[in-house]
Amino acid sequence: MKTAEFSAKLDEYRSGTEKRLRELFTDMDDDIAPLGESMRYSLLAGGKRLRPVFVLEFARLCGGADALDVACAIELLHTYSLIHDDLPCMDDDDLRRGQPTNHKKFGEWQALLSGDALQAEAFLLIAQAPLPDANRIEATRILASAAGVNGICSGQYLDIVGEGKRQDVGALLRINRFKTGALISAACMLGCAAAGVFDERMTAAGKYGDALGLAFQIRDDVLDVEGDPEVIGKDVGSDQERGRETFASLLGTEKAGWLAADLANEAKIALRAGFEDTEFLEWLTDELTVRIK
Ligand code: IPE
Ligand code: IPE
Ligand code: MG
Ligand code: MG
Ligand code: MG
Repeated sequence: MKTAEFSAKLDEYRSGTEKRLRELFTDMDDDIAPLGESMRYSLLAGGKRLRPVFVLEFARLCGGADALDVACAIELLHTYSLIHDDLPCMDDDDLRRGQPTNHKKFGEWQALLSGDALQAEAFLLIAQAPLPDANRIEATRILASAAGVNGICSGQYLDIVGEGKRQDVGALLRINRFKTGALISAACMLGCAAAGVFDERMTAAGKYGDALGLAFQIRDDVLDVEGDPEVIGKDVGSDQERGRETFASLLGTEKAGWLAADLANEAKIALRAGFEDTEFLEWLTDELTVRIK
């Protein structure tokens, strides 16, 4: 396959996800419709939809499944994490996905509730997905694990208590694994779970997502230093402002880039150990390591 074909495949996954996401929270009673509006505001603001892409591609690699609702579930959960991440008590950012952050537009209490609701609705989508019970239970376990104390919440906790402190490579890897790697790894494993594949292929998918997730966050940290807000659609300089050590501050952006490239290679090795027909994901891995948004 060539780049144009990979890119077309990526667009197809994205547009399928986008279409399904647009159907959600449209039919709420009048008195609660404004809550739905703020949930949809952040959800439909044009994220890259990478986590759904991983769900859908791993489901395909595992023999196929109707994984669209599982793919949308992880995007709901990811969007909740972004809304809360931007709050004044967290990163205090004003711009997200190219528009004012949820709390800037709707106020803090509504942003908080929109995030809460998106997280709960993610699990509801999985519970109601058109899949065998065992697949849905495993998908629930995977997503809950990545969202809780072995994932986002602990990563966000360590990120904030680490403010103003020097961190070494090991500590930064731990934070990044929790706050970003866990959910990307979960996306890959969710695709396997949707297809009812619970064997060593799921382990390989998890390892791929873990290494790629670390590379992804390193690139995010570099973009926080040298990205263009017009292109990335979010504020830059946020980490430095809050005194957060990142791979970009610890190693410099060039060496941080080398580390991301090493991790991307590690990710591809893990992928090939579990799967054939990995060309699309290998291409995507390279794209994400040098992405500009
Ligand atoms: C942003 O994730 C938060 C990180 C984990 C770095 P994305 O870069 O995937 O954000 P969207 O979904 O495209 O907005
Ligand atoms: C990842 O870290 C955040 C989440 C787990 C939601 P960042 O705080 O660096 O993400 P951005 O840069 O605001 O998207
Ligand atoms: Mg943050
Ligand atoms: Mg942030
Ligand atoms: Mg960032």
